[in-house]
Amino acid sequence: MLNDRHLILGITGSIAACKAPALVRLFIKRGAEVQVIITPAGKEFITPLTLATLSRKAVISDFFSRRDGSWNSHVDLGLWADAMLIAPATASTIGKMANGIADNMLLTTYFACKAPVFVAPAMDLDMYTHPATQANLDKLRAYGNRILEPASGELASGLVGKGRMEEPEAIVQQLDDFFEKQAEGGLQKKKILLTAGPTYEKIDPVRFIGNYSSGKMGFALAEVLAERGAEVQLVSGPVTLKTRHPNIRRIDVESAEEMLAAALREFGDCAAAILCAAVADYRPAETAPQKIKREGQEELELRLKANPDIAATLGARKRPGQILAGFALETEHELSHAEGKLQRKNFDFIVLNSLRDKGAGFRTDTNKITIVDSRGQILAYPLKSKREVAEDIVGKLTSYFQ
Ligand code: PMT
Repeated sequence: MLNDRHLILGITGSIAACKAPALVRLFIKRGAEVQVIITPAGKEFITPLTLATLSRKAVISDFFSRRDGSWNSHVDLGLWADAMLIAPATASTIGKMANGIADNMLLTTYFACKAPVFVAPAMDLDMYTHPATQANLDKLRAYGNRILEPASGELASGLVGKGRMEEPEAIVQQLDDFFEKQAEGGLQKKKILLTAGPTYEKIDPVRFIGNYSSGKMGFALAEVLAERGAEVQLVSGPVTLKTRHPNIRRIDVESAEEMLAAALREFGDCAAAILCAAVADYRPAETAPQKIKREGQEELELRLKANPDIAATLGARKRPGQILAGFALETEHELSHAEGKLQRKNFDFIVLNSLRDKGAGFRTDTNKITIVDSRGQILAYPLKSKREVAEDIVGKLTSYFQ
């Protein structure tokens, strides 16, 4: 599964860098093309010449490749890669990745990379268990990176714990498994509509009715779908998030009516749609053309009008074979409300999340879901990062195409 894959291998300054040649050799043996990027500290542990010889490519370390001013483009490299592996990843590099510090070529490439990133931590065992390191690793997981759990070893305190970098064979196998799962995903070239974020319903030129949706859940879904080969049509309400993957086409909208129009334009030739947006159920019956003034008004009545139900509209138009999935955000009687929506909107499955669960719902980096499908299957999942939740949902979706 690694044949013809473009891999970036990022090497940082750890004694485990001595395992990097084995990694390169194994990747090359499986047919991958490997571009090594090494940090200045990494070069203290392994020579670029060894790595260049094994990878058959010049090793990149600096922004500028020659004294003539030509430079290595981290953006081009980030786009070229099918995956990026940082092995070994020191506590320092992990900390910089978690906190947006891009002070070397490896880090700028990481921040520009659109492909999945795998991180193999390697450090002193006490450093690994330090709360700061663990918090940084949690951040990386929340950003969608895959952390390759280190192997066990002995702590300075004499206790046994984790910290030693995973063995090259095991790392290469994990990447191989990832690409195999991706190929099995059955979403290659499938067009998938996704709605995400809130909608804003205008009261006047400066005010609106909205909700707390950040778009995090929907954007995590977009990334996972794109990584599995789908062509994602992401219709997003106003959010501050950015998309990373080139398979994502983003259509920005503001109101429920605009979201419906965009969804209807795209849905016809889609294999599936996942409706994750928190759509306002009502909008002001009239939008004031000028800013509403407070003077002389102790009370202000807003008359609201029902918005179109995008999910029910698509549900009514669904062709045989098209899969429609929705979300239910509940605060009480969760399961019965979700089952009602599943039927009324003609969903194939619905993803229930409840605001009664800590760490679930709006704005958090985590979510806790239950998937209910139209065949009566109910599957409850534990609290996970939104990235992992997205993988579970995409796993459910792909089961319809197998
Ligand atoms: O964006 P985040 O901060 O990460 O938060 C994620 C989330 C909580 C917004 C997300 O997980 C979620 O639950 N999204 C759906 C929220 C919602 O509006 O649920 P609902 O139960 O009101 O709607 C049911 C379904 O109908 C949803 O699929 C919704 O997209 C759809 N709908 C609702 C109303 C409407 N007018 N049109 C719709 O299409």
